[in-house]
Amino acid sequence: MDIRVNTPEIQDQMNKLFSSILLEQQKYMFVKKADEEKAHLVETQLQEYTNNRGKGFFYNYMSSGRGHGPFTELIDGSIKYDLIGGIGPNILGHSHPLYIKAHLESACSDTVMCGNLQPYPEAAALTNLLIKNVEGSRLKHFWYTGSGSFANDLALKLIWQKKEPKYRMLACTKAFAGRSVATQDITHNQAYREGMPQSVEVDHVPHFDHNDPENALQNTIDALKAAVKANPNQHCALMMEIIQGEGGFIFGPKEYYEGVFEWAKENDLYIWIDEVQTFGRTKELFAFQNMGVEKYVDIVTVGKALQVCGALFTEELNPKPGLIAGTFNGSLTALNAGEKIVRYLTEGNFYGDNGRISELEKTFIAKLNHLAKTSCKGKINYAGGIGTMIAFEVGDASKEVTVAFIKKLFQNGIIAFMAGSGPTRVRFLLPLSLTDENIDEIFRIIDQTVNEVVK
Ligand SMILES: Cc1ncc(COP(=O)(O)O)c(C=O)c1O
Repeated sequence: MDIRVNTPEIQDQMNKLFSSILLEQQKYMFVKKADEEKAHLVETQLQEYTNNRGKGFFYNYMSSGRGHGPFTELIDGSIKYDLIGGIGPNILGHSHPLYIKAHLESACSDTVMCGNLQPYPEAAALTNLLIKNVEGSRLKHFWYTGSGSFANDLALKLIWQKKEPKYRMLACTKAFAGRSVATQDITHNQAYREGMPQSVEVDHVPHFDHNDPENALQNTIDALKAAVKANPNQHCALMMEIIQGEGGFIFGPKEYYEGVFEWAKENDLYIWIDEVQTFGRTKELFAFQNMGVEKYVDIVTVGKALQVCGALFTEELNPKPGLIAGTFNGSLTALNAGEKIVRYLTEGNFYGDNGRISELEKTFIAKLNHLAKTSCKGKINYAGGIGTMIAFEVGDASKEVTVAFIKKLFQNGIIAFMAGSGPTRVRFLLPLSLTDENIDEIFRIIDQTVNEVVK
């Protein structure tokens, strides 16, 4: 398809610009401390930004827009490993050639955003690609939304319209569904909805329990039964993250999900899977494919690594006209980059038992377990996760110790985040651009930092 302005001259300039940008960005590929003369910059700029937005930031962190692969530079001149990627979007790492290409191509288009009254080939191509990648399931349609939370709002609306007047939801303890008016009720953490009126009635049941794997399925089903018995004929759906992200990467085996979903289907509930955080990050493009539960899913929400957000749903859930619309699908760059990312992931050697994602999972968990047995004995007490979603516990796994650890880790050159409470875990959402040399250096920094923080 012939799209965007293009002439031999534009193509020539674009190729030169692409090479120049990439060559410049590749200069930022090592850990470095802040420059003395720039050290104050993050603090000053963040102070003004903080005053204006009314809330502070977790880290003293303002990106300079420079960085490559797993590395990112801050405006104080420091360069760090970015192992959290903005909580998920940066799956390929910084200034990946495909990101640069998507930006340059979009500059040759005639607008910035596209949407429902302004369709562009970029949006169509990504939708078609996503649908092609869920061929083994009953998912037939995809609709864009402005965020992961709104993708979940959309899912809820489609389910409600079909199930009217059964509006009550089932979700899991430790679930995170977002912060919109509706999803804040599905999110389990009450501290995230202080002072809010309840807009969705939700019963939370336990997810898989690593500490009691034999009884986990029965415990979940018993809790589901009790919730349905307490409010008979009122529930419409079960919402589950196959791997709970904010919960600390909690997940069970295939049989666990099969058991839960069989029960849900027998009880006439839609199965809604939230893959906003997990999309792209397991041994398959979708975590529901990784678990082999394709036949059960009715609606799946995505975001983050895709660069845009939305919901995939079955023919049955296609809503009546008027229920869904909205100005934006996303920016042309984001849609173009999303399509390039999905192609790169599915056409490259990332998925499957021998793919790079599986290798990264095994390497990180093995190296963390090695530290736990050697130089960090008694100081790292759990290491786990799946795919590029890695979590571990430091010291007593309290929030205080974990925050102290990740702040020190930041100073020492690695950006990470935390997840879960009781225990609180250190969380990595790894970029796929990590080399084995990078990993060795990362583990030297982790080892040093654990021993600095936990005495
Ligand atoms: C599982 C899950 N669902 C929904 C969301 C909300 O997405 P967004 O922050 O884009 O609204 C998140 C964000 O962290 C998430 O991890």
